[in-house]
Amino acid sequence: MKGIILAGGSGTRLYPSTLATSKQLLAVYDKPMVYHPLSVLMLAGIREILVISTPESVPPLRSLLGDGSHLGLEISYAEQESPRGIAEALVIGADHIGDGPVALILGDNVFHGAGFPQLLRTARAELDGCTLFGYPVSDPERYGIGEVDAEGNLVSLEEKPDRPRSDNAITGLYFYDADAVEIARGLTPSDRGELEITDVNRVYLEQGRARLIRLGRGYTWLDAGTHDSLLAASQYVHVIEKRQGVRVACVEEIALRMGYIAPEHCHQLGARMKNSEYGQYLMQVARLVA
Ligand code: DAU
Repeated sequence: MKGIILAGGSGTRLYPSTLATSKQLLAVYDKPMVYHPLSVLMLAGIREILVISTPESVPPLRSLLGDGSHLGLEISYAEQESPRGIAEALVIGADHIGDGPVALILGDNVFHGAGFPQLLRTARAELDGCTLFGYPVSDPERYGIGEVDAEGNLVSLEEKPDRPRSDNAITGLYFYDADAVEIARGLTPSDRGELEITDVNRVYLEQGRARLIRLGRGYTWLDAGTHDSLLAASQYVHVIEKRQGVRVACVEEIALRMGYIAPEHCHQLGARMKNSEYGQYLMQVARLVA
């Protein structure tokens, strides 16, 4: 399975913080936001990852993540000229995806919870069509919403409905089989001029091939696209890290624990940043695992 991180958009809701930089490079407490979606793909066992962003933001994202080899990954980049919709990522990423399955994740989505890596790997192994991840929210009109029947089957999908039929938000993580590219290519832009990911998902739903995994109370899902939600995400990560003494979305540690890099290499990555607590943590984890 290939991975795509969609890290474009104009970030206007975060102005002036994003006037001169990409939203996905802003810090969620102690690390760049894009480490969060990257860590989700890594935990799903995905190593070939395409990062899509604006022409201005690809160079700084490339400076940060490089070709991914320091993490045992293959990271490549593509530009999205303007924010023409999340589903356009599937069209831009067609060559990268090839004729296999793909996991698409939005660059501002933060996931955390016990058992999440196993849940991701099971979802990947059982993929047949598309798999969506739902999360209960108090403001469903802000999201794509999935309605489920009494048996838990997905029955309808709506994008930012005025009167949501449920509180079950569709998060910005999508697993698709090889049909997704053709489905996205066949879409027409919505009233707001975007290729809507909800329209891709609805095609799978109509084919009876859309599955919803509901992330329950044991999980946290945040999108860090506004000043308040960015602060909430930072506070969340801060509390967990200080209390537990572990780091959330620490991509070097994940690479180490997944066996993609050796402890000595992880130690070197930490030593480059030894003046930061993050760098110290990497050196400590590398010593523990060695
Ligand atoms: O976060 C989950 C929600 O994401 C879903 O529940 C919705 O169904 C989905 O449409 C999307 O809603 P948003 O209103 O949050 O989408 P937004 O336009 O803010 O874009 C989400 C991220 O994707 C954002 O970081 C910018 C990036 N993006 C977006 C578009 C439309 C791009 O890189 N390119 C784009 O063309």
